[in-house]
Amino acid sequence: MTPKISLALKVWRQEGPNVKGRLETYYAENISTDMSFLEMLDVVNEQLTLDGKEPIAFDYDCREGICGQCGCVVSGRPHGPEKGTTLCQLHMRHFSDGDTLVIEPFRARAFKVVKDLVVDRSPFDKIIQAGGYISANTGGAPDANNILIPQDMADRAMDAAACIGCGACVAACPNASAMLFVSAKVSHLALLPQGRPEAAKRALSMVKAMDDLCFGNCSNERECEAECPKEITIVNIARLNREFIKAGLFSSVV
Ligand code: SF4
Ligand code: FES
Repeated sequence: MTPKISLALKVWRQEGPNVKGRLETYYAENISTDMSFLEMLDVVNEQLTLDGKEPIAFDYDCREGICGQCGCVVSGRPHGPEKGTTLCQLHMRHFSDGDTLVIEPFRARAFKVVKDLVVDRSPFDKIIQAGGYISANTGGAPDANNILIPQDMADRAMDAAACIGCGACVAACPNASAMLFVSAKVSHLALLPQGRPEAAKRALSMVKAMDDLCFGNCSNERECEAECPKEITIVNIARLNREFIKAGLFSSVV
């Protein structure tokens, strides 16, 4: 039989963006260790609803580690204690009976709390809109392999494209920097020939948007890399810096 555990949860409750929040304690009793973290929160919410209380607001969509919607800080770790794992893919077997967990939203100046554990990550959308696409008219779909791409280049682009835009890197960074996210988005296009024509414009525009939206600067703490559920590496930040410097030196785009 699957073991069951009981936990105390200190959960951040905040009615809205301009209201003061506080930690409230709830108990998650007889939780199957096969449950995901979000399923455990579902159980707590079911009980809160039965008791006539407001359920805890938290974000999710796919629950498969794909969409980037889920995420909060569990006892100081964005997405919880397991490396390379989103909160929706984190299972309760990684916790022990009697544990007390502190559950808070991703905290950053650029991410306002909407309610409880839900934060507004639309600043990421604005960065993407500032340059994370290809607008060159490419005509009809070319035959496969018309543009030859070395396998290692394709692999590195694919690794960068694994970023799901969850925001854990920002929450983990002491400067609330979005450099890992932006570098992943810049890299996955800049590494491929199709992304080169607008690489300079993209790097400059996305970095400007990141600065305008009040994200902090990178000071090589590497917390972002340690907490990223998709294990995006800071090698991408080095590439972003190179792209940005090159763009500033050789491009007329400002
Ligand atoms: S770089 Fe990692 S932590 Fe940051 S948004 Fe992308 S997937 Fe999330
Ligand atoms: S709910 Fe989609 S990544 Fe977690």
